[in-house]
Amino acid sequence: MKTAAVLMTALFLFVTAAISGAASPVLPKGYADWKKSDRKVDTDKNSLFYGIHYIYADKKAQRGYLADNKFPEGSRIVVESFSIKGNPAIDGPKNMIVLMQKDKRHTATGGWLFAGFGVDGKPAGLDPVSTCFGCHQKDAAQRDFVISTKKDFK
Ligand code: HEC
Repeated sequence: MKTAAVLMTALFLFVTAAISGAASPVLPKGYADWKKSDRKVDTDKNSLFYGIHYIYADKKAQRGYLADNKFPEGSRIVVESFSIKGNPAIDGPKNMIVLMQKDKRHTATGGWLFAGFGVDGKPAGLDPVSTCFGCHQKDAAQRDFVISTKKDFK
């Protein structure tokens, strides 16, 4: 009986950790010091990134880009998005931050954690499967679900 109780407690803690880990993704601190892409302007109003954005890749993700989009476990990629102001376009206020982090536990989204954040860095609570994965699966199934390539970092 005692063993069963201990096992149940262990299982409970494990499940709680797994759920809370999935429910509250954390925006990595210091991503502004990672490798930064060119300034990217997207004038398609139907695009998620309508506006101006910059992609940041940590060391592991940089290796993944150089290997033609084969990313090692733990790779992290962040996009900061800004609204467009004026013509020629200048960067308006920041409006969104998104993260992909290679994590094999996230089998429903190609082995990546997908997360959206407000400009305050707090999780936006978007559902990764219905809100994120569709486009990445459609556009980049052959590129480890990462749409940008090393050409975006010159
Ligand atoms: C409407 C289609 C679409 C949806 C939905 C979408 N993305 Fe993307 N995502 C893109 C495109 C297109 C790019 C490439 C942008 C570029 O090349 O500059 C991209 C790039 C990214 C990148 C940089 C790495 C890469 O794949 O190039 C991250 C991180 C990212 N998206 C996260 C997310 C997250 C998190 C969500 C859900 C909140 C999401 N995306 C939903 C289209 C989408």
